[in-house]
Amino acid sequence: MILGIETSCDETAAALITLEGEIRSNVVSSQADLHARYGGVVPEVASRRHLELVMPVVREALGEADASLDDVELVGVTAGPGLIGALLVGLAAAKAIAWSKRLPFAPVDHLHGHVASLYLQSDPVQPPFLCLLASGGHTLLLDVPDHGSQHVIGTTLDDAAGEAFDKGARLLGLGYPGGGELDRLARQGDPTAYDFPVARVPGLDFSFSGLKTALLYVVRDLPADELERRRPDLAASYQRALVRALVERTRAALEETGAEQLAVVGGVAANSELRASLPDAALAPPLLCTDNAAMIASAARFTEPIPYPRYLAVDAYASA
Ligand code: KG4
Ligand code: ZN
Repeated sequence: MILGIETSCDETAAALITLEGEIRSNVVSSQADLHARYGGVVPEVASRRHLELVMPVVREALGEADASLDDVELVGVTAGPGLIGALLVGLAAAKAIAWSKRLPFAPVDHLHGHVASLYLQSDPVQPPFLCLLASGGHTLLLDVPDHGSQHVIGTTLDDAAGEAFDKGARLLGLGYPGGGELDRLARQGDPTAYDFPVARVPGLDFSFSGLKTALLYVVRDLPADELERRRPDLAASYQRALVRALVERTRAALEETGAEQLAVVGGVAANSELRASLPDAALAPPLLCTDNAAMIASAARFTEPIPYPRYLAVDAYASA
C-alpha cells in the first residue's frame, strides 16, 4: 500500500491506498473550527496543530485500513505549494516514517494531488483531458496529457475561486470557510435577483476581485433588516456569477484546445451549481474534492520515487 500525508493548509490528513489506486482509508482532521474565529487560516496556529495531529491521524489511517507500517511500500507527502510551516510538519513526519522502514519516498505537488483525485478507484478518469482546478488557493485551467504531468493554460489574475466564495460568504455573515455554507444558502434564493458582473480578462485567465467588491457595495447599502431578508438572493446571485465565469472560461478552453474530455477538481468542485452546470465533466466525489491525503497517495503513484536514504534533504516549497 501507499501511505499519503497532506498538511499544506488547515487539514491534517493521512490515507492508505493500494498500488492500483483503491482507497483503504482516508482520514481528514479539519482545523477549520480552530481558525474560524480569525476568519482565515493563521499559519503558525496551523503548523502547531499539524504537529499535534499528524501522528494520531496516520495511526488512525493505518487502523481504519487494518494495516501496519509493515504493509506500506511507498510514502507520498505534499511538498508544496502551501503554508511553508504547515508543509514542513507533514514532510518531516513522512521522512521519519519512510526512513525508519527504509521505504522509498515520493514528494508530491499538491496541485498534482487534486488532479490525481480523478485516478482513484472505482471509476478512474484516463488522460488526456482538460481540467479545471478550483480551490481556496488556486484557479487553473490545465492541459493534462498523462498521469504524471499537467500544463497551465489559464489562471486567476487575483483571487482564487474558493477565496471568492469564502470572501462572499464572510460578507453575508457566514462562517469560515464559507463556500459550502454559501452553496446551501444559495439554494433558497433567486439567482436572478441581482446582476453581479464578472470581469472578462483576455485569454483563458480569470478575475474575481471585482465581483467581491460588487457584493460588498450591495451589502453595505442595504438596511440591516432588508439585508437579512435578501441574504439567500444575494448568495444565489453571487454564486451564479462565479459559476458562470468558471463555466464560460472552461467552455472556451475546451473549444480552443479541442480537448475531448473535461474534468473538474479542487474544493470548489464540491459546489452543487458548478456540478450541475457541467453535466458532461468528470468529477471526483465531493469528499475527494476538498483537501485529503488519498489524492496525495494517488499522485504518488505517478511521481518518480526517491529511493532510501536519499530523500532527507527534500525541502518544502511555498509557491508553485
Ligand atoms: O481544495 P481545498 O480543500 O483547499 C485548497 O487547496 O485550497 O479548497 C477549499 C475551498 C474553500 O475556499 C471552500 O470554501 C471551497 O473550497 N468549497 C466550496 C464548496 N466546498 C468547499 N466552494 C463552493 N461550494 C462548495 N460546496
Ligand atoms: Zn487543495
